[in-house]
Amino acid sequence: MGLIEIHSHLLPFVDDGVQSKEQCLSVLGAYKQAGFDRVVVTPHLYNPYVSTRTANIRLMYQWAAEEAAKMGLKLFLGSEIFIGSIHPEHILPFMSRFALVELDYYTKPLFLEHYNYILLKRGYHVILAHVERYQWFSPKDPLAKKIKELGVHFQCNVDGVESGAAAKWINSGMIDVIAGDNHGNTGVPEKLATLLRRYPDISAKMNSLFIDDERIQ
Ligand SMILES: [Fe+2]
Repeated sequence: MGLIEIHSHLLPFVDDGVQSKEQCLSVLGAYKQAGFDRVVVTPHLYNPYVSTRTANIRLMYQWAAEEAAKMGLKLFLGSEIFIGSIHPEHILPFMSRFALVELDYYTKPLFLEHYNYILLKRGYHVILAHVERYQWFSPKDPLAKKIKELGVHFQCNVDGVESGAAAKWINSGMIDVIAGDNHGNTGVPEKLATLLRRYPDISAKMNSLFIDDERIQ
């Protein structure tokens, strides 16, 4: 089985990710080249700092999935859901069940545990995106342990690992997923592939988490 990227912004004309069809294709090509066979596109939803043209999502996904298939890549549609003070109404999970969730970098959201509980109750597997970016959060925070026990999976970004910002998270053993959060960079796939080789435990967790997609899809 090839590698999987579960956090990317590669649909053109949708969010702050790739800006053209050509850019989308060259980044997808870079994933194939680096040994990936599955890529999940996760356009921002409800992020107050990013405007997302939701009307374009399905159309662009359809186009990109066909192009990806020609390269031997399977493309999945998901989303990156911002949880702030309002509980998001619409969830676009990938592989029918994974909800990628992002939070404010500087302010600890109230009721986070409650929101996660609701999502989990509704049958979603919550993946908390780029945990290393939240200034108010650390592996020692009792909330981290609490939501981890609830069943929330923790993801860190390639750039967070490279800068050292994610080191305390990696060392804590709490990271389940490393992802590119790729906004259109052809260098990210190879970097992610290298990190997945460097951290075989995390790679193994990812393989067991995302393995039975075929049966469920
Ligand atoms: Fe993202």
